[in-house]
Amino acid sequence: ISAGEGAGPGTRGTRTRSAGVRGEADRALGSEELAEIGMRFEVDGEIATITLDRPDKRNAQTFATWSALARIGNTLPGQVRVVVVRGEGPSFSAGIDLRMFTPEGVPGQGSFASVAALDADVSGERIRQAQQGFLWLRRPDIVSIAVVQGHAIGAGFQLALSCDLRILGEDAKFCMKEPALGLVPDLTGTKPLVELVGVSRALEICLTARVVEAAEALRIGLAEQVVPVGELEAATARLASALLTTDRAAAAATKRLLRGAQGRSLEEQSAAERAEQVMRIQTMFGGHGGPGND
Ligand code: ACO
Repeated sequence: ISAGEGAGPGTRGTRTRSAGVRGEADRALGSEELAEIGMRFEVDGEIATITLDRPDKRNAQTFATWSALARIGNTLPGQVRVVVVRGEGPSFSAGIDLRMFTPEGVPGQGSFASVAALDADVSGERIRQAQQGFLWLRRPDIVSIAVVQGHAIGAGFQLALSCDLRILGEDAKFCMKEPALGLVPDLTGTKPLVELVGVSRALEICLTARVVEAAEALRIGLAEQVVPVGELEAATARLASALLTTDRAAAAATKRLLRGAQGRSLEEQSAAERAEQVMRIQTMFGGHGGPGND
């Protein structure tokens, strides 16, 4: 079968279906299904942790990885406010499974050759499905944290970029390798990269496919913190706890404002602030009918 079928991505990665119609994409994956894909998912109160768990293959990603990520997003327990994305072993993720470049491909998931054989709109749809695994990590109701040790290459770099925040081990190495392999970064990473480092630096990083090490990543805005690898877990726990100290609804509203800011004029952003604040004040101080009604 070709990429996107079977173990491939669910056909709908967002909550856009009509109410009452629940499909496969809305069923939470069990731990055994995730283990087969090379992933783990754990929830501890308001904190969920997604672990890429194929350390012997440096957490290489497949269509099944992206489908599982989308499913986790679709079925995230309502109490979760912080989502931690991490990788087991020495690397965060070595990017797309290189078997995709071979004629045989990834068993059950196809190869680039099988994607090339599809109509352009069908292969575009396959990519759209893969992107659903990444897009939900910027949802306003959660804050996502990528915890990166070792290599984060290609799809691995893009997975880290799809999170709101990045904590790096001192050995972290980012590389956008796609252009060196004749591809473009298409797993939603180009926009956050440009937002974080600007278009010129993003161009330089992508078009040289060079390695960006942890210290530089911190300096140019690709990371919020760099810590010794042995301290990553504790640093992540501290950040997650700190993020949970603010009011949940206010945090979501603030994230909506901050995420939307770049696409709005100052006037539009001011209006958005007013609208969010009116909602906050009504919710907190009891107004139900809107301004002027009480
Ligand atoms: N896909 C499939 N298998 C991989 C991948 C990958 N992307 N990366 C590593 N592996 C496998 C290796 O084949 C090896 O398997 P084996 O033990 O069965 O031989 C195992 O993981 C360990 O790999 P090493 O290279 O020995 O590990 P090392 O720690 O020395 O190097 C590194 C890690 C730098 C990540 C290296 O493996 C590498 O460069 N991988 C390829 C990276 C890449 O080009 N990714 C594609 C980017 S483009 C995109 O993502 C769209």
